[in-house]
Amino acid sequence: MQPLRVFVSREIPTLGIDLLRHQGFSVKVWHEDRPMTQEELIQEAKQADILLSLGENKIDSYFLNECKHLKMISQFAVGYDNINIPEATALGIPVGNTPGVLADATADIAFGLMIAVSRKFFFNHLKIINGGWGAFMPTANLGQELYGKTLGIFGLGSIGSVMAQRCKGAYNMNILYYNRTRNAQAESDFNARRVEFDELLAESDVLSVHSVLSDETRGKFNKDAFTKMKPSSIFINTSRGGVHNEEDLIWALDNKVIWGAGLDVTNPEPMNKDNRLLFMENACVLPHIGSATVEARDGMSRLAAENIIYFIREGRIPHCVNPMVLKP
Ligand code: DGY
Repeated sequence: MQPLRVFVSREIPTLGIDLLRHQGFSVKVWHEDRPMTQEELIQEAKQADILLSLGENKIDSYFLNECKHLKMISQFAVGYDNINIPEATALGIPVGNTPGVLADATADIAFGLMIAVSRKFFFNHLKIINGGWGAFMPTANLGQELYGKTLGIFGLGSIGSVMAQRCKGAYNMNILYYNRTRNAQAESDFNARRVEFDELLAESDVLSVHSVLSDETRGKFNKDAFTKMKPSSIFINTSRGGVHNEEDLIWALDNKVIWGAGLDVTNPEPMNKDNRLLFMENACVLPHIGSATVEARDGMSRLAAENIIYFIREGRIPHCVNPMVLKP
C-alpha cells in the first residue's frame, strides 16, 4: 500500500515531521521563506492526502472545494480563523488544531507587553537610539504601577487563564472576565468575576484580549469600546489583530482616551514599518511571537502530527475543531 502523503506548508520543528515519518507517512515540506500563494497551496494539496497548515494559509471555500479529497487538515496553531470551518464541515473534512501547549508562552507575551507599556519600554529604547537620552528629569518618563490593579480578560480560555494567574501572583490584581460561558475554574482559582462587556471596559485598568477571531469578535474594540475605557487604562492584544480596529486604537491613544496599548498581533500582518504605533510613546508592538519559544513550537509540532496519526490509526483527533464530521 502507498504511504499516505502529508504536505506541510512551512518548515516546522522536526519533532512532528519525524513522528509522522516514523509512523510511515510520506511527508513533503515547503522550504521557501515566503508564504505560499493559494494557487501553490492548491497544487501541492492536490498531490497530498493530508494538509498540515499554518495560520497564513487561506483555506477558504474556493480552496476547500478544489481540495475536497483531503482526508484532514491539521493546523499548526490554536487559532483557525484562516479556515472556513463550516465549509470544511459540510465537505466532511476534519480540522485539528494545537491548543494548550502555547498557553504559557503566549501569556508571557501578554504579561511582558503589559509591563512594557506601563513603563514605556519601547519608546524609551527608541529615545536612546535616536540620541534623546537627556538629563535626569524627575517628572519625565513616568509610567504606572500595576500592584492591586484590575485586569480584565476578554476571552478566558487557557491563555487568558495563565495571564490571570501571572497577574494575580505578581501583582495581586483583581480579575474580571468576559466570556460566552462561565469559567468556574478561574472563579475558584483567582477569584475571577464574570461581567458584561461594558463593565469589563469601564472597570479594567489593564484589558487583555485572548479571544478567537470570529464574526462576533471582529472589530469589537473600536471607538465606541475605547471610549468606555478608563483614560488610565492599558489595552493588550495577543490573540488576533482583527479583534481591534487599528485606526480607532490610534485615535484612542492620540486623544488620551486610553493610556497605552501593547500588541503582538496587528491587522494586516506584517505591519508596515512606518506604522504610527511603532513610534508612539504609549504603544509597544511585537511581530506575532506569542508562541515563539522552543517548548511551545515543539509542542505544536507534536500535537499537529499526533492529530494526524490518531485520526488515521484510530479515527479520532485529540484536538478537533469540528468533531461532528468524525464517525462515532
Ligand atoms: C496560534 O497558534 O494561533 C498563534 O497565534 C500562532 O499562529
